[in-house]
Order: sequence, then C-alpha cells, then structure tokens
Amino acid sequence: MSAQIESVLQEERIFPVPEAFARQANVSGMAQYEALQAEAEKDNAGFWARLARENLTWIKPFTRSLDESNAPFYKWFEDGELNVSANCLDRHLGTPVENETAIIFEADDGAITRVTYRELYERVCRFASGLKALGYKKGDRAIIYLPMSIQGVVAMQACARLGIIHSVVFGGFSSKSLHERIIDVGATLVVTADEQVRGGRNIPLKAAIDEAFAMGGCEAVRKVIVYQRTGAKVAMESGRDITWDQAIEGQPAECAPEPVSAEHPLFVLYTSGSTGKPKGVQHSSGGFLLQAVMSMKWTFDLKPEDVFWCTADIGWVTGHTYITYGPLACGATEIVFEGIPTWPNSGRFWEMIARHKVTIFYTAPTAIRSLVKAGETSPDHHPRNYDLSSLRLLGSVGEPINPEAWMWYYTNVGGERCPIVDTWWQTETGAHMINPLPGVHALKPGSCAMPLPGIEATIVDETGAEVERGKGGFLVIKKPWPAMIRTIWNDPERFKSSYYPADFQGRYYVAGDGASRDLDGYFWIMGRIDDVLNVSGHRLGTMEIESALVAHDLVAEAAVVGRPDDVTGEAIVAFVVLKGPRPSGAEAKEVATTLRNWVGKEIGPIAKPKEIRFGENLPKTRSGKIMRRLLRNVAKGEEVTQDVSTLENPAILDQLKEAS
Ligand code: WTA
Repeated sequence: MSAQIESVLQEERIFPVPEAFARQANVSGMAQYEALQAEAEKDNAGFWARLARENLTWIKPFTRSLDESNAPFYKWFEDGELNVSANCLDRHLGTPVENETAIIFEADDGAITRVTYRELYERVCRFASGLKALGYKKGDRAIIYLPMSIQGVVAMQACARLGIIHSVVFGGFSSKSLHERIIDVGATLVVTADEQVRGGRNIPLKAAIDEAFAMGGCEAVRKVIVYQRTGAKVAMESGRDITWDQAIEGQPAECAPEPVSAEHPLFVLYTSGSTGKPKGVQHSSGGFLLQAVMSMKWTFDLKPEDVFWCTADIGWVTGHTYITYGPLACGATEIVFEGIPTWPNSGRFWEMIARHKVTIFYTAPTAIRSLVKAGETSPDHHPRNYDLSSLRLLGSVGEPINPEAWMWYYTNVGGERCPIVDTWWQTETGAHMINPLPGVHALKPGSCAMPLPGIEATIVDETGAEVERGKGGFLVIKKPWPAMIRTIWNDPERFKSSYYPADFQGRYYVAGDGASRDLDGYFWIMGRIDDVLNVSGHRLGTMEIESALVAHDLVAEAAVVGRPDDVTGEAIVAFVVLKGPRPSGAEAKEVATTLRNWVGKEIGPIAKPKEIRFGENLPKTRSGKIMRRLLRNVAKGEEVTQDVSTLENPAILDQLKEAS
C-alpha cells in the first residue's frame, strides 16, 4: 500500500434536510442521531445487543454480544439462535403484513406478478420442503445461478430456512467463473434457470452450468434444479437435473425453520480482490440480518406504506442485503425487476416508478449516468415526462457519484424534494456503513457524509496515524460491526492479510478505498487504492483479467489498468504482448476481438476490456517490474511527463499509445 492520496475538491453546494422529511423520519434530527452515536460510543457491543434484541426474532436469546477473543475473527451474538427466513417471513404471519404485497415482480416484457407475504412464505416453504426431501440440510452449500425473479428470492430464502449456505453467482459470469465457485465453495446443489431474459433477449443459463460440469471436478453436486423461465429446451441429465416444478411437486407449504447459531454462515459471495482468484466473502446470519434491518430503517427511513425498489441484481451484495433480506425482514413492499433500464426504451425506470408508485428508489451512478445521456438523445424518455411524485427518497450505491450526476438525479428524478442517500459500503461490510441519514444530514453532492450509528470510520496515513481534516488517506473502520465479513471461505489467512494487514498491526479493518474528510467531517470516497477496478459498479481485479489474458495461447504477457469513463466510471484497458510478432491494422483488430471474447468466456462479459493495445513489450523498470502508473497515463491519453530514464525500454511507450 503505497498510494499517496491528495485531498479532494471541496463541494460548495449544500442541501439542508427538508423539514417535513425530518419531522416524520425514523431518525429525526441531529440530536437523535447524536444520541444513538453517544450510546454506541459508550458501549458499542451493548448498543448492537440492544438493537439485536429489539429488532430480530430469536429462537434462543444470546447472552454475549461481541466475542473478540480470536480477533480479527470476531463473533457476534454467537450463543443466540435464530432463523433468517423466519425473521423475513414467519414473523409477519398473523400480523396485518401477512396479506400485504411482499414482491411486485415486473418481467422484462412488462408482465407483473404480485405475491403477498403469506404467498411468499408458502412458496419458500414448498421449495425448502423440496430441498429437504432431496436430502439437503444445514451446512450444505448451494450455488444459485438465477435471473432476477421471485424464484431467485425464494431459492435464497429456502436455503436460509434450512441453514444451507448459498452462494449466488451473477448471471453475467461465465461457465469458468461458475466452475471455480462451485468447487471452491464445495457445492452439492445448484439452482439455475433454462434462460434469462434481458432487454428482449434470451440468454442461456443452464448451458453455462453444463459447460462448468464438463470442466470436471463438480461431482459433489448431486442435484441441479432448473427453473423453466422461458421453457427453452435444455439438456437435462437424468438422475441429476430436475425442474423447479418437479422439486416442489406435492411438497407441503409448511417447513419448520432450522434454528442456527447467529454465527452460522448465511452466505458466501465471491468478489474480486487485488490479487489472485475471487474471494468467497463469508457472512453470518444474526449480525448480517441485524444491520440489513437497521439500515433499512435508518438509511431508507422505511415505513409500512413504502414501496421500495433496489435495482441491483441478486448476484451482488446489494441484492442480498436490499432485496432478499432487508426489505422482507421489515415487511416492506418491494419491486423485483427482471430487465434493464434501457429497454424497451430509456424511460423504463421512470415508467415503473410511476406505475408502481415507488417511494424509495435505490440505484447505481452508472445507471444514472447512462440515463442522463439517454435522456438527452431521446427527450421523450426524459424523467420529466413521467409522474414521479410518489418518490420521497433516492439512493445511490456502488461507486462514487460525481456531483453532476448527483444534481441531475436530485433535480430530474427527485424533483428537488427527495433527499439522496449516497451509501458507501462493500460486499465485505454486509450493509451500509457511511451515508447521510435523510432526516439528519444536510447533503453535499458527491459526499457519502457520515458513518451510521455504531460505525467508527476514519482515515489514516501509511503509518496508521489519523490524518487531519482535508487530507486524504486510507479509509479504515476502527471497531468490529455485526454485519462484517467473518472470513474468506477456505482461506482465513487471506482474510487477515487482506483486511487486517500487518502494516497497521491489525488494528483496523482496511477497506481498500482512498478517502478524505472535509472540515465538516463529511467523508469523500476517492475510489480503490488497490488493483481493483470498478466498472459500472462491478468489482473486477486487474490481476484476474491479466491471468485470463495470459491463459490464451497467443499471449505472452498482459497488464490491465483502468481509465476514467463517462458512463461506466472506469473502463478496462489491456496492454498485451503476443508470443508472435506485434499485430497491426486489421490483424490487430481481429486478435483484439478474439481476446475480448476469450476474457468474456474466462470471467464473464462484464470483464471484457474496452480497449486492447499491443506492444512488443511492456514498460518495465530495469528490475523487471511493470510500470503500471505509466500505463495508466498512456491509457488516459495523457502525456507522460515523468522521468522514464529508469525504464528498461522507453521506446515501447510510443507503440502502446496506439489503440487497435
Ligand atoms: C465502491 C458494493 C463511493 C468502493 C456495495 C467500495 C463506493 C466498492 C460507494 C465495493 C459509494 C461502493 N461511494 N464508492 N457510495 N459504494 N463504492 O463490494 O470502492 O461491489 O470499496 O460493494 O465499491 O464494491 P462492492
């Protein structure tokens, strides 16, 4: 960790908390926020214990809040027992929520399905009963490779009901990525669909599972359950593959929830790090659910009348916390959307907000930026043409939101009346960590404001000393929190070295982001300081993409960097040295296409480089280290002003300036 971060711009615009909003807010006004913070400061573990008792339903109450005896492998509420699915479903039975709508599902083609909490409960129980009948039980691992669907939520909830640890793989990952995850997590069950439908196109899913199996080593998987989304004909291996309907046929709509320790892993979700293969981030049951619930109430100010829409996919952590678990545990009505924001036209989000009277809308800056552009080129689908008056709160997640996009969102979508909660968090943190509370904090476009109650975040320099206000540094979290990552599946050492590095004597959780605080104490996130890229809010490791490239027969060496992109935030640029001569012209184009598709197959389409440049070599120091900083300059099209005399081969830079 050597990145030196300079302080950022100061944003002058400030938007005070609308008084009417503050009056009705769950956390109403600064005094209430400060009281929560003071309570947490006095006794952090006691603070979370109180909330856990008040907000979750326990089968067996816990007696101890935080166990630090084996730090940084922290444990929360460990001797308590609960069931996450029972907290999301059973707890609403016999209350007025039972017959309320839990999910409004809108398919790609606009078809709408509504399920009440009672119906969702029955669907989950039936599927869980089916899994039980197939012999699955607590501690087993399931890979879920499903589209955005009610079935996706049901499959996850059914696993939670039985204590089966799920690992959801985003539909945009390839068979190779699936294969790695099936093996690493030790899955014995796979739940998938024949196809997914996005933007009017059918995309195979089951075929990718078959390809993954063909790579060998997946013999532990006993059953593959296939939800027939489109009814496409897919290969079904007899004895192993069954349809969703077969799995639930004749199964009872009751299934007792399995009590699990609060520390029982609820899920493992793979995400990219700066080195090596994706890491399986392991989350707990009790602590995770607690912060999912608290952030729904604090950040989103959730009320029983709200219609909540988080546009993330269940394949990412945002979909876990803010689709499958948080909203349901709170008894909310939520939208689950199968499609994409630009189909059949770029007004789709706005049309859906109007149609379903969405009150809280949570999306990613990359979606906002692409819709800003689309709104300009096709003015008919600009948000001003839709009735968005139901909205009362907006949210942003996944990457820094640039102040221009923030202003556009605030003005055109929120009608200058809705606060925007810019939420900083990570797969590893499990839930929101730093964001404004809409009834408490004045907003500054581009700043994620302040830590949530109970979270102690700060910024330190290389020595671990806290930096002054206005100076940049490493974003760290000082105290453990209930929803935090427990370990990396199969790799506890990597957990320690990644998040509690020796550089800081293991004192802090190191997020991997650079940040600064302004004079008001507001946090400003500057992005990753490691070799992780953020492309359209998707996390990708440069090393992963480099490994994929060099795995191709033609490639001798590769270096991958990010460059800023107006829509996707960052774009992937790959510098490649072939084993043969450096290609040019049409040949270079052809090889670039081959390599792009190759990366698509190795990792997934989301990892395809936007640009590939060929050189006879890469810029290296005399000791053979690739000069990535120079490559970043070249990728951005910047003049290289620094001294290149220490380079082994300075002439190579000219070759790499040419894109193919
Ligand atoms: C970035 C997504 C600035 C950050 C929930 C972090 C953000 C990484 C924000 C985690 C935000 C996420 N402002 N940056 N509001 N939210 N990030 O694991 O770099 O997919 O480390 O979790 O996204 O990405 P992940």
